[in-house]
Amino acid sequence: MRKSKIAGVGRYLPERVVTNDDLAKLMDTSDEWIRERTGIQERRFFELGKDTTSNMGTRAAKMALENAGLTPQDVDFIVFATLSPDYDFPGSGVLVQRELELPTIGAIDIRTQCTGFVYGLSVADQFIKTGMYDTILIIGSEIHSSGLDMTTRGRAVSVLFGDGAGAVVLQASDNDHGILSTHLHSEGEYAEELAVIDPGSSRAIPRTQARMIEEGTIFPVMNGNHVFKHASTRFPEVIQEALKLNNYQPSDIDLLIPHQANLRISQMVQRLLSLKEDQVFNNIQRYGNTTAASIPIAMSEAWEQGKIKEGDLICLAAFGSGFTWGSALIRW
Ligand code: UT7
Repeated sequence: MRKSKIAGVGRYLPERVVTNDDLAKLMDTSDEWIRERTGIQERRFFELGKDTTSNMGTRAAKMALENAGLTPQDVDFIVFATLSPDYDFPGSGVLVQRELELPTIGAIDIRTQCTGFVYGLSVADQFIKTGMYDTILIIGSEIHSSGLDMTTRGRAVSVLFGDGAGAVVLQASDNDHGILSTHLHSEGEYAEELAVIDPGSSRAIPRTQARMIEEGTIFPVMNGNHVFKHASTRFPEVIQEALKLNNYQPSDIDLLIPHQANLRISQMVQRLLSLKEDQVFNNIQRYGNTTAASIPIAMSEAWEQGKIKEGDLICLAAFGSGFTWGSALIRW
């Protein structure tokens, strides 16, 4: 059966580094609290007038195409995962189509937040498996910093997130290497446990009101403990689901690239699956949680550092708002 392989990986991180001490000037928090609870030391924030969600994604995509030895003209379809699109509508995928000056190929946005990249990869994999497309760009890109409550009221959420973009080129594979399987889940019962409620289409007429800014309902809310508990269960579960289907054990994984939600969650997953430290890739220390961008950014760095080699068994896994969770097992 036709498979899809990752032919190139890329990333773009805005230049501005924001440390925990920088955040402590804006809200009642500390470097010690953030490091201890999350592992995060610094993150990147976008530069107004230079970076947008779509142009950061485009830069990451160009790097991925270059790595793959391809040009934008080779792309058949665009999948763009983000919770922070340039506009409410249209989505950011069409802006990439414009920026790359591509012919009128299709472009979709994926809205599953932290699992956006895994969902996007799965969607692209199906298009390639069916023979509809040969080469697909999958981009995850986020600008969180302008949408966070940077006061003490929002500190439990705001210290976690950063801006950035990552991308991969997925191509039809002529051998057994490529995506072995993807596994997607959701549990809408917990939709409001990690969400931005306003301005939403079911809340008020008109949809945007000044009180939403005053009351802070335009900012993300999160039941941190609840999310942590579910994440620690769902990550190992969905990784095991992928391994079991393909007759592998956790010890067979060469590199697990988890969505970078919290270093403590990654360490717990590592412990629960009895993985060695060098089997799990983490870079949340430098970028915070970049939601849909975290896995492709991590994949791009791991590849550059020689931690992903031809023939390796790579596992991707994510959990987040929705709740949604998912995994992908890849023979590189
Ligand atoms: O990718 C999307 C998925 N998101 C996640 O996976 C996040 C999952 N959850 C978490 O990572 C953790 O729950 C957090 C890092 C968000 C919070 O850590 P925690 O150990 O669960 O802390 P907590 O929420 O129980 O809060 C402990 C204390 C509270 O003070 P009191 O009530 O004990 O006096 C908070 O008010 O820490 C306080 N606190 C802070 N203190 C300093 C909360 N945020 C901060 C802060 N700085 N930024």
